[in-house]
Amino acid sequence: DPLDEPTKLIGAIDQGTSSSKFLLFDPTDGRVVASHQIDLHHKCPHEGWFEQDPGDIIGSVQNCIIEVLGKEGISKEIVKTIGITNQRETTILWDKTTGRPLGPAIVWCDSRTADLAEQYIQKTKSKSINDLQLKCGLPIHPYFSALKIRWLIDNVELVKEALEDGRLAFGTVDTWLIWNFTEVHVTDVTNASRTMLMNIKTLEWDDELLEFFDIPKCILPDIKSSSEVYGEILGGELRGVTISGCLGDQSAALVGQGCFAKGQAKNTYGTGCFMLYNTGLQPSFSEHGLLTTVGYQLGPGQSPVYALEGSIAQAGDIVRWVRDNLNFIKDSSDIEKLANEVQDTGGVYFVPAFSGLYAPHWASDARGMIIGLTAYSDKRHIARAVLEAVCFMTREILEAMTQDAGIHLASLQVDGGMTANNLLMQLQADLLGITVIRPQMKESTALGAAMAAGLAVDAWNIHVLNNRISDNFKPSVLSDDRDARYARWKRAIPRSIGWASD
Ligand code: G3P
Repeated sequence: DPLDEPTKLIGAIDQGTSSSKFLLFDPTDGRVVASHQIDLHHKCPHEGWFEQDPGDIIGSVQNCIIEVLGKEGISKEIVKTIGITNQRETTILWDKTTGRPLGPAIVWCDSRTADLAEQYIQKTKSKSINDLQLKCGLPIHPYFSALKIRWLIDNVELVKEALEDGRLAFGTVDTWLIWNFTEVHVTDVTNASRTMLMNIKTLEWDDELLEFFDIPKCILPDIKSSSEVYGEILGGELRGVTISGCLGDQSAALVGQGCFAKGQAKNTYGTGCFMLYNTGLQPSFSEHGLLTTVGYQLGPGQSPVYALEGSIAQAGDIVRWVRDNLNFIKDSSDIEKLANEVQDTGGVYFVPAFSGLYAPHWASDARGMIIGLTAYSDKRHIARAVLEAVCFMTREILEAMTQDAGIHLASLQVDGGMTANNLLMQLQADLLGITVIRPQMKESTALGAAMAAGLAVDAWNIHVLNNRISDNFKPSVLSDDRDARYARWKRAIPRSIGWASD
């Protein structure tokens, strides 16, 4: 009797900027049964460049799978299917015939194409960063894949040759992983919506956009929904298991947090910080620097659900910088203790514009800044200013959303590695003036990918996860204090913008 069979588990690969993970979920209650995580390295060979090795990306994922499958009681037989979620926009080009990468992975926050972006803006009729917004939902900016592809084609000889010989393939990280596991060349609508090459309404590659960036369609993967069987794994520990879910990490977190209704929002604090607000079945377009993106499409016959997104390039990444470049702390989690040693920042403010400023400013020429230093300031104040900066940037995004969509969130659902920091959560509630809700299940991103994979093979009930336990952080400062600190931080922003081009 099939009812007596033990429940099969659903796997999720979560390939982020800072680490790769593989997790197995029990679909009856959304519990993590087993997991493994491996940190990922990057290189910054020049100012503003940020690269990873495509071989490391796939290798770290494979090693996570080996570790999990090696745990007691776990075997391939109990894995029903797997889903993939990934750092978005990061661009990889490879040779279709050999499977070899033809250059580094240009990571999403790499800003080497800032000048190129300016040239493309000048090519448009309106000469505006938003000229293509109604077509693809995005500003013309180095963040997205199109200009990274252009740069690789123009600057890497092996890429040029492969293009001429018809051997070139492009993929974001989802596509690179699925290709390596199945030899199928596909992406999903959420990842495709971050390339600048997909029409945000038709959900197909757009000929005008391809012509504008001079990128041939033949190198692109097929666009699929976020929840369907893409292929079967050809080798390794999970040979024969299907891949049936795929979402960019921020979309996956939206699903994993259960933000299925129009008007629901989540904020994920990872390497960067990304707030997504579910706008329902129609794309809506921001007048305040937010992106229009695909939230999810849970099956080929299903309607896509759209989101407005506020993207912040640096969050956990600044903590890593405080750890590795300033050597103020040994582990990232130590920042909480250090920042807690003082009651306030002593007037120190931090603008983390290492890759320029993303939403709502989209200023590639902004640079990082610490301001307000006195002889009294020390590393504790700087650590606290770093945490406050993440909160101030989140407030900027929320204000843009309020202006665009007229929403007034009563509370903010959060997730991601940095949310383990209680001080950050309290500062966030204080500086927003609304309750911050943190689910006890911290792996919302991987959960979203597992849900999409499970749904595709009728192995997940979407209502299972709606009653999760959570911690609440309530605002504890007066609004005058909150507004005065925010206003002061806002004064620092124009001082940072333009620094790189002055
Ligand atoms: O758009 C970039 C984003 O997908 C990266 O996410 O979690 O690696 O910061 P994360």
